[in-house]
Amino acid sequence: MRILQLGLLVALASGVAAILIYIIGLSNPYDRFRVTNDDLSALKALQSGFKKCVDANGLGLQAQMSQDYCHVTIQYPSETVPKWKDPKTGELEGLSFDFNLCEAVATWEQVRNSSTILTKEFIDSLPNGWEEYAWRRINKGVQLGNCRNRTLCMEKLTSVLPETPPFVPRQFGRCAVIGNSGDLLKTNFGEEIDGYDAVVRENGAPIQNYTKYVGRKSTFRLLNRGSAKALDKVVELDETKKEVLIIKTTIHDIMNKMIREIPIRNQVYLMLGASFGSSAKGTGLKALEFALSICDTVDMYGFTVDPGYKEWTRYFSESRQGHTPLHGRAYYQMMECLGLVKIHSPMRANLRREIKWLPNQSIINAARISSEKILRRFGAGTSNPFGACSIIKKRVKGKSPRIPNLREDAVKHQRHVKGATMYPLERNIGNGILCMVPNMN
Ligand SMILES: *[C@@H]1O[C@H](CO)[C@@H](O)[C@H](O)[C@H]1NC(C)=O
Ligand SMILES: *[C@@H]1O[C@H](CO)[C@@H](O)[C@H](O)[C@H]1NC(C)=O
Ligand SMILES: *[C@@H]1O[C@H](CO)[C@@H](O)[C@H](O)[C@H]1NC(C)=O
Ligand SMILES: *[C@@H]1O[C@H](CO)[C@@H](O)[C@H](O)[C@H]1NC(C)=O
Repeated sequence: MRILQLGLLVALASGVAAILIYIIGLSNPYDRFRVTNDDLSALKALQSGFKKCVDANGLGLQAQMSQDYCHVTIQYPSETVPKWKDPKTGELEGLSFDFNLCEAVATWEQVRNSSTILTKEFIDSLPNGWEEYAWRRINKGVQLGNCRNRTLCMEKLTSVLPETPPFVPRQFGRCAVIGNSGDLLKTNFGEEIDGYDAVVRENGAPIQNYTKYVGRKSTFRLLNRGSAKALDKVVELDETKKEVLIIKTTIHDIMNKMIREIPIRNQVYLMLGASFGSSAKGTGLKALEFALSICDTVDMYGFTVDPGYKEWTRYFSESRQGHTPLHGRAYYQMMECLGLVKIHSPMRANLRREIKWLPNQSIINAARISSEKILRRFGAGTSNPFGACSIIKKRVKGKSPRIPNLREDAVKHQRHVKGATMYPLERNIGNGILCMVPNMN
């Protein structure tokens, strides 16, 4: 008898529990993060193509998949001899690197539609933008007491702070990003590089005396702190003086003085970048990020170390070392196999080289939506272009960006986002973005 009663009780309890779980499931606000079988198939399709792509195009690199739908490992051949040592730990770089494919797909697709230039409308629209953000982009900004005197802060930023974005997604067609690796001297890429619609260079990379290898054309230059402080030297590298300079760190009084007094007539901006965590750093990656935010396609030169490399050098100076060359090369291989960039190097010198096993747009789209759910991103799983906007602000009337003669693809994209600008938000949980929409009234 006892046992029967107990059995009944257990049955009742589990029934109630089941109903509870059902109700909680239905009313769960996170239900839109629910990953369906279709989502998992989409990620599986991406993963299997990805492995084939890395194996086919990676010059010996191999991708290993795990049970986890997002996790991939890119492995160098065991005979590779790492040369770079971490100056802090003294350890040699490893031969295998783990990446999160879901995070890469979701974040890079967002970069393709965002503005990566810091603007005044962005600071004005951030909650407490001046008090909490602006001073971080000014060297010794801490001393400005959270921009208590906003006029002073504005003065310091004025030479690098446009009201609205000076560039929009897909404004340029084919772009080339030129790294500074010594392997550029092995191939005469100059003429080919000059054939692109826009060319992005980095730091103090010279053009004169190297045009056979790196071309003449230069549209943008990404600058780290060191190069930005030597702005007067940097502007001499491009004879046309039309290069647009993009600083990835902060504005210095020294720079302001140079811009005013020398004077420097090039446009100078601060970059507003997405955050990729520790998986990817450095000027090279920032240059790619910038290019991907304004170009249809991005080709890269002078980044890679090909098998058998002796030492990572710069093309314009002996013995200067880069950092984490193997990690970088593996990350770029991931980007290539996600269809974001095309890598050119002495061993892949054919401009028209076909990248095998590239995912098509429908695979990328499906994988992005699934990844957003798995990563619990803001607005995950919607096809609404404003789904990821965690902050939406209306533009001040009459202050929309005006960029003449936009390419058809850029106009199409503007129509898709209804004239809005998307800005990445730093350290933002869920990777929500800030959206500035036009004021129609
Ligand atoms: C704020 O800074 C401006 C520009 O340097 C200065 O002219 C003004 O006196 C400052 N205002 C206050 C209240 O300190
Ligand atoms: C190019 O070469 C000439 C002659 O050797 C030299 O004077 C000049 O400084 C070089 N330019 C650069 C940018 O290195
Ligand atoms: C994309 O690729 C997948 C797998 O290779 C294929 O099944 C699908 O038909 C392709 N879609 C388009 C639009 O080409
Ligand atoms: C980016 O914009 C394109 C249209 O140009 C759209 O098809 C795509 O879904 C957008 N991607 C994201 C992540 O919003």
